Amino acid sequence: MAKLEIKNLHVEIEGKEILKGVNLTVNSGEVHAIMGPNGTGKSTLASALMGHPKYRITQGSALLDGIDLLEMEVDERARAGLFLAMQYPAEVPGVTNSDFMRQALKATSGKDVGLFDFAIKYEKAIEDLKMREDLAHRYLNEGFSGGERKRNEILQLKVLKPKFAILDEIDSGLDVDALKIVGENVSGLVNDEFGCILITHYQRILDHITPDYVHIMIDGAIVLSGGMELIKKIDKNGYMWIKDELGIDFVVGEE
Ligand SMILES: Nc1ncnc2c1ncn2[C@@H]1O[C@H](COP(=O)(O)OP(=O)(O)O)[C@@H](O)[C@H]1O
Ligand SMILES: [Mg+2]
Repeated sequence: MAKLEIKNLHVEIEGKEILKGVNLTVNSGEVHAIMGPNGTGKSTLASALMGHPKYRITQGSALLDGIDLLEMEVDERARAGLFLAMQYPAEVPGVTNSDFMRQALKATSGKDVGLFDFAIKYEKAIEDLKMREDLAHRYLNEGFSGGERKRNEILQLKVLKPKFAILDEIDSGLDVDALKIVGENVSGLVNDEFGCILITHYQRILDHITPDYVHIMIDGAIVLSGGMELIKKIDKNGYMWIKDELGIDFVVGEE
């Protein structure tokens, strides 16, 4: 059992407060969906937890099994068991996917992984994600379609087996088939040792991954938490009803 505890997290970017007190506790075995309009700080939460230097924590805490994540460097956070699938995964020309993967595995596990064991694991993951067989030899995300990048993130997740993953809009840019592949692979990972935060704009991915909890983030804070019924409501009515229901005012901003 592992626990990720985010308390009263305030985050600034270039002097502007974006997160205004986020509270969220995720246990392994749980899937938490975070939904919300564009520009409310969902990606900011993901980046701040991973330690992106641009994001300044001004208040609050984030603990993984009681250990302060916010004091750690990015690589230490990964070693502690946190994984981020980015909304926009970067290309790294010159580094092959398999080299990257093997290095990442070595860095997070602290052990040298034998080439043979690695190859078996990696090939299995390529097959599970239904990616091209030459993936290993291509440069990291170079020339990849949006959908291939997203699938590559989930492939990395499968190989690295972190304690917690934050998946930021893994559904964007995916066609129906890819959505199913990604959704089923993520679902298949959830167990007593793994939990995940699924940031999503649309409910489509939630046909394949059933969240245990649904949170709505508006203007830098989680304003409402519940279950699948919230998704249905958002799907039908968007976000504006929250204004009336909670009596809070907000504008739907840009991403
Ligand atoms: N790197 C950045 N530099 C400046 N402003 C940013 C940066 N990242 C995000 N923001 C701003 O922070 C707010 C929240 O953005 P983001 O976390 O990406 O929202 P979401 O993921 O919910 O759409 C937006 O107003 C956005 O313009
Ligand atoms: Mg975002």
